[in-house]
Amino acid sequence: MSLIEVKDLQVHFPIRSGFWNRITDQVKAVDGVSFKINAGETFGLVGESGSGKTTTGRAVVGLEKATGGQILYQGENIALNKPKERLNYNQNVQMIFQDSLSSLNPRKRIETIIAEPLRNFQKLDSETEKIRVLQLLDIVGLGPDALYKYPHQFSGGQRQRIGIARAVATNPKLIIADEPVSALDLSVQAQVLNFLKKIQREFGVSYLFISHDLGVVRHMCDRLAIMNHGRLVEVGSRDDIYNHPLHIYTQRLLEAIPQVDVRHRQERQQERLRIEKIYQEQKNDYYDQAGMAYPLVQVSQTHFVALPPQAASKRKLTAQGVD
Ligand SMILES: Nc1ncnc2c1ncn2[C@@H]1O[C@H](COP(=O)(O)OP(=O)(O)OP(=O)(O)O)[C@@H](O)[C@H]1O
Ligand SMILES: [Mg+2]
Repeated sequence: MSLIEVKDLQVHFPIRSGFWNRITDQVKAVDGVSFKINAGETFGLVGESGSGKTTTGRAVVGLEKATGGQILYQGENIALNKPKERLNYNQNVQMIFQDSLSSLNPRKRIETIIAEPLRNFQKLDSETEKIRVLQLLDIVGLGPDALYKYPHQFSGGQRQRIGIARAVATNPKLIIADEPVSALDLSVQAQVLNFLKKIQREFGVSYLFISHDLGVVRHMCDRLAIMNHGRLVEVGSRDDIYNHPLHIYTQRLLEAIPQVDVRHRQERQQERLRIEKIYQEQKNDYYDQAGMAYPLVQVSQTHFVALPPQAASKRKLTAQGVD
């Protein structure tokens, strides 16, 4: 059984306008998204700005109400949870937020910020609590002098590590890491990613790793999904996505990864232009009349692609119920 299973998740936001402030339309931020995350694995969710990644993460952690679909935690629908199960879920599913400055309360000291989840879920005496906070700071490479400081006294990378310490405080089973490194310098990015990996090795936590950059998630994820306008266009193993991308949008995202290697710059530039030309020529085939991606079709044991109906019937696997 998967640790978490998201089934046909929809999150729609109403748009209000006019004198009466009536609902006149809706933003379909998430529109029929399904995926599973297994215990101890890192599942990437990648897509450009506005594709619905954060909204998906917030819905999984319970900060956003689903308009439709289900979220199953260890096989149980979380919407049907009783208060005690809800508490258990909240303790086991934590989030690291995209913007570390606004997600840490500026008026609270680091000690209080990190102790907050402990206070919510575990009744520790103040001595034990302090020891635990110090341990958590140590896990993310910060010393005891951090305890009495405020968030603004830290750099972006340090603040993101404080967010990580807070997220791991309750020993969760799943952490939703929303763009945990995108606001950081390249050198600091690697450092924070290494902390996340170390924590996974030590505690066996699963990650839902959200990013707009396929380059960043490459070495983090076991499997990943590509999101586009509220839908998934491709889901697969790291090898499926990076070496055998089938959806035109995935191919285009891959071409957009910045290259450090200068030697093949010209060839890369040509390849990028070639993919962009194919994208412009073929993009209409990959989306329906409303501009939405088609439903996912399974093309191998691990690989799912949102192919147009004609192409889908050619590639569809007959095997049913394969994970
Ligand atoms: N509370 C809200 N009310 C109305 N619309 C919203 C709300 N939250 C998000 N949206 C809209 O939903 C869509 C998806 O937003 P979301 O923040 O999930 O995207 P994202 O993929 O995380 O983007 P980014 O990479 O910029 O963080 C956007 O069009 C956004 O404007
Ligand atoms: Mg976001």
